[in-house]
Amino acid sequence: MCGIVGYIGTFRDPKEVLLTGLKHLEYRGYDSAGVAWLENGKTHIEKCKGKVAQLENQIKNVSIKSTIALGHTRWATHGKPSTINAHPHQVGNITVVHNGIIENYIELKKELRAQGYTFQSETDTEVIACLIKKESEKSKTLEESVQKALRKLQGSYAIVVMNELEPEKLVAAKKASPLVIGIGKKEYFLASDIPALLSFTKQVAYLDDYETAILTPHRVEFQNMKGEHISKKITTITWSAQTIEKAGFEHFMLKEIYEQPQAIIHTLSGNLSENHDKVLLPLEEAFFNNVQTIYLIACGTAWHASLIGKYLLEKFANIRAEIDLASEFRYRNPILKENDLLIVTSQSGETADSLAALQLAKERGIKTLAICNAKESSIARAADQIIYTEAGPEIGVASTKAFTTQILIFNLLSLYLAQKNKNVSKEILELTKIPSYMEQVLSQAEKIKNIASKYYQKLAALYMGRDILYPIALEGALKLKEIAYIQAHGYPAGEMKHGPIALVDQELPVIALLQNDSIFEKMMSNVEEVKAREGIVIAISQKPIKIADDNIILPLAQWHINPFLYSIPIQLFAYYMARFKGTDVDQPRNLAKSVTVE
Ligand code: AGP
Repeated sequence: MCGIVGYIGTFRDPKEVLLTGLKHLEYRGYDSAGVAWLENGKTHIEKCKGKVAQLENQIKNVSIKSTIALGHTRWATHGKPSTINAHPHQVGNITVVHNGIIENYIELKKELRAQGYTFQSETDTEVIACLIKKESEKSKTLEESVQKALRKLQGSYAIVVMNELEPEKLVAAKKASPLVIGIGKKEYFLASDIPALLSFTKQVAYLDDYETAILTPHRVEFQNMKGEHISKKITTITWSAQTIEKAGFEHFMLKEIYEQPQAIIHTLSGNLSENHDKVLLPLEEAFFNNVQTIYLIACGTAWHASLIGKYLLEKFANIRAEIDLASEFRYRNPILKENDLLIVTSQSGETADSLAALQLAKERGIKTLAICNAKESSIARAADQIIYTEAGPEIGVASTKAFTTQILIFNLLSLYLAQKNKNVSKEILELTKIPSYMEQVLSQAEKIKNIASKYYQKLAALYMGRDILYPIALEGALKLKEIAYIQAHGYPAGEMKHGPIALVDQELPVIALLQNDSIFEKMMSNVEEVKAREGIVIAISQKPIKIADDNIILPLAQWHINPFLYSIPIQLFAYYMARFKGTDVDQPRNLAKSVTVE
């Protein structure tokens, strides 16, 4: 969603910092972009609808002679994508960029209008600028006006503010939307996410909710909302700037698909004993004692990984696992008991609904565990215990390596719990074979591309699987929808007769996921039924399916390893379908990488 970049300092060209930062936030999804800076005590703003490249072109002949500047990419929530609604927003001497949603902006706007204020845009953000402007007339400092104005807001925000009357200061604050401070030598940076900062510094401090950062070219100070000084931990980022580049791949998504074997190796590392026969996890010894029911909560792809987690936890650890979408769980007043545990899974660690579900569980006093990829993200910090996936930065909007590393954590967790009561050393050892299995599947990319070339003009597709491959059917359909914009459904194959088989005709590709197990024959019957109705069958299986129109054959692996292998063809198929269609693979329309608002 929206991306924020800020710079204060004398060492660099602010234009370069802002454009580099904004380009590295493009993956978050946006529809307009803008920058603002102070020059000789006056605010200058340039903004436009469209991509950062358009903004770059718009300011190509503008030299920014300034030590203080803000940049923003907007993902429209209140008001359509347009230049006027793009950030930054200026009210008098105050200029603001904002990520989040102000829920009471209509009431506030009404009040401010009654007091004589006027508004240029349809956004909720302009209300923040207006409130800060109003407070600045009776406050001594910008931080004081910001802190007072924020008390009136309901909703979520990460904001950065500058004031013509205090030209050597940026003030930032946040609640439920991420904001990171980059610390240089006599220069400071602000951003919604680490990739925007990596070219300039690796020293960062994460702002927490209800905290303010006051940045000058010489120092950064942190305060709570009462204006009291607080100290913050400085963290060193271990990613290299290269990890956020495409490294010769045409798209981040393709690069990330190919990075999966490495991501699995990194996630396994440190979580297995030397002989690879025991799982070691960074959890408190007694954390799982007496746990009765585990609630698995997430959104989108992370929810699909959690659904696989349910199969794994119930089979290996013999623990009841309930699965729910974060957006449903948080509003349905779930029955939670003392010995229940909530596991929230999130790549970004900033998904608004997942964070709210986690907070609900904490308020109800049950234990919480997060599975996250983004270090020190809001979810990672809020949960009682955290297990990190080590996928590295995932930039493509379509989640790939985060998904398979999440499945790996669920494998590790189930086997970790199982090993207390039984010998699961063989199953644990199998985990170390995943990277080489994945390489074998990746070597079939050309074949998958050829299959996609036959079907990319189809208007719909259906994915079906059973048991632990049913979530992969859901994930395949999601991938195809989000990047190739093709209507796609994922179904448990046993449900075909209860409705979806009515869709089958000679135009419908059905992607059938078959594994060599006790229900292989059941899946075969589903395939036969599709063929009997002239549907097109693309079989992803572990042995040739003669009646299928196309076959993708995967290595034979154990049941708990299969989701890793079946993930790759569905990712590559969606990728190539999108490539042939010519859609925007890394930044699909209307989508954001980090869904920080409801
Ligand atoms: C994945 O391809 C999607 N873009 C999306 O469903 C994503 O998985 C979901 O928004 C959850 O994000 P999170 O893992 O960062 O919480």
